Amino acid sequence: MNPSLGVCYYPEHWPEAQWAGDAARMAALGLTHVRVGEFAWSLLEPADGVYEFDWLTRAIDTLHAAGLKVVIGTPTATPPKWLVDKMPDMLPVDAAGRVRGFGSRRHVCLSHEGYRSECVRMVTALAREFGGHPGIVAWQTDNEYGCHDTTISYSAAARDRFRVWLAERYGTIGALNAAWGNHFWSMTYDSFDAVELPNLTVTEPNPAHVMAFRRFASDQTVAFNRLQVEIIRSHAPGRDVLHNYMGQVTDFDHFEVSRDLDIATWDAYPLGFLEDRVVAAPEWKRRFSRAGDPDFQAFHHDLYRAMCGGRWWVMEQQPGPVNWAPYNPAPRDGMVRLWTLEAMAHGAEVVSYFRWRQAPFAQEQMHTGLLRPDSSEAEGYAEASAVMRDLNGIDWQDTARADVALVFDYASCWAWEVQPQGAQFSYFQSVFEAYRSLRRLGLNVDIVPPDTPDLTGRKLVMIPALFAWNDALTGALEDFDGHVLLGPRTGSKTPEFSIPAALPPALPPHMLDMKVLRVESLRPDMPVAVEGGGAFVGWREYTEGGAVALRCQDGIPALISQGRVFYLAGRPDDELAGRALAVIAEAAGLKTCALPEGLRVRRRGDVTFVFNYDDRAHDLSVLGVGKMLSPAGVEVIGPDP
Ligand code: GAL
Repeated sequence: MNPSLGVCYYPEHWPEAQWAGDAARMAALGLTHVRVGEFAWSLLEPADGVYEFDWLTRAIDTLHAAGLKVVIGTPTATPPKWLVDKMPDMLPVDAAGRVRGFGSRRHVCLSHEGYRSECVRMVTALAREFGGHPGIVAWQTDNEYGCHDTTISYSAAARDRFRVWLAERYGTIGALNAAWGNHFWSMTYDSFDAVELPNLTVTEPNPAHVMAFRRFASDQTVAFNRLQVEIIRSHAPGRDVLHNYMGQVTDFDHFEVSRDLDIATWDAYPLGFLEDRVVAAPEWKRRFSRAGDPDFQAFHHDLYRAMCGGRWWVMEQQPGPVNWAPYNPAPRDGMVRLWTLEAMAHGAEVVSYFRWRQAPFAQEQMHTGLLRPDSSEAEGYAEASAVMRDLNGIDWQDTARADVALVFDYASCWAWEVQPQGAQFSYFQSVFEAYRSLRRLGLNVDIVPPDTPDLTGRKLVMIPALFAWNDALTGALEDFDGHVLLGPRTGSKTPEFSIPAALPPALPPHMLDMKVLRVESLRPDMPVAVEGGGAFVGWREYTEGGAVALRCQDGIPALISQGRVFYLAGRPDDELAGRALAVIAEAAGLKTCALPEGLRVRRRGDVTFVFNYDDRAHDLSVLGVGKMLSPAGVEVIGPDP
């Protein structure tokens, strides 16, 4: 099926007389999907129990009459002021104990019982009203869980629920004390009600305590989402239920939330992310300032494709400058088209732009849309038209299974935030750098969760910095005849945050019979050079056992192997990552090519998509094509004759 385009629309921001014209223009542009409603609580219920759904019905009817498919969002990310005034203790509390107030959005603590029941009431009313509407094809729960650091709240409601959660997990307080090692520093508790939240301690709290709290916070998001999904499913049969995730929000387990959804969607803001989230040298950011990081979007496309059986969309696609990053440049002409086609090359069913028309008021007045505030066409509009022209000319083959699997684990994000041990150590960064080095070799990558890692038929699996080894991985590797590359810190803790009894990496010895004896984190100015080129930066380990495939210049093993299993004993710089991977990729029989920086490829069947993120043209001869691809250029090669 060909992918399609959509847009996010806020009928409540515009006079009703404009709606029909907007809908007609959307349809004329070729858009098929429109999302509405996700922030409209105070307009849908202006006073407690007083529902005003008619305007939204008329808006959805108008869109439907124009042939558009509607996605309706539940408005639970923006509870109205009257509701907050009714129960002020629903507001979230930050780590310093300060209440985060009303006046923007996501001013909620997901653990608060009263807030949850108000959401149940609102979502039920909405689902009853709109569940059978023929124009609605999908329901979005809430909006961007976790955005603006809102997974974690240190409120009294969170504390009370955390105690119940602990009792369910550990059964007895003695079991909790033993699991956490609370005889250290006299931290033993005599009841679950004695356990506080792990903030405002004098010095660092017990990492096991913080880890439990992080798991709990993630579970609150899963439970909150599930509440909504159940209501929607019972009143809106046959409609897809989805959520729009964010980029690099890792505070809750998206795999878990997605188990309750039909489609995983995410919000892609390449230039906002480059300035606001990507960790890279200033020269890199400058080079890609009008394009976005060449791997950051693709990483998330592949991450979200790993959920919901492979069904995923981009729910919000940046159409021009945004308002929220430290710098908000305009994309190079052609980049909005490139981002859209790249998402589709990774398998997106729908790419939906944020937003239809730029709002002249309130927080996002500096955020572009497809239209300017005066309804004239903004630059993104022409790019969406260009995508429409592209769509039919492309043979959209199956996204296919990648030869390479990369394990991504949310719990490891939390673990290494709890105990970084070195200022620069980041789990997300470790996995993202591995992903980048695979992409530089032109490889398709499937991301897989650690508890259900599907490795059948793969040639290589990479497991960077996974904090706790698990039986599912052991089981999957027993039957696996490809190559495995483990990164530093893998298997270095038990799930309860202690060092494994037989020392890391704690794999069964028939898979990898080695031990990590000592670890060190390194200042940025003390890289450890590796023989033949490249270095460890930020982190290195001293190991015993296994065959040595590469050594540091000081003689300490850098890459250890046992059969087809490899262990990298430090965080590699780009050069070392490339070297180590090239050796293993060749042994694994992977077909690679060394792409020029900024050029990236993605295959669907025997169709190869080439994207130029760079600020200069690149020769495609490396891909067997005799032409130059200009900046923001997209080349579609194939299908093979
Ligand atoms: C997203 C959010 C949208 C809008 C957008 C602006 O994070 O879901 O509602 O705020 O950012 O870029």
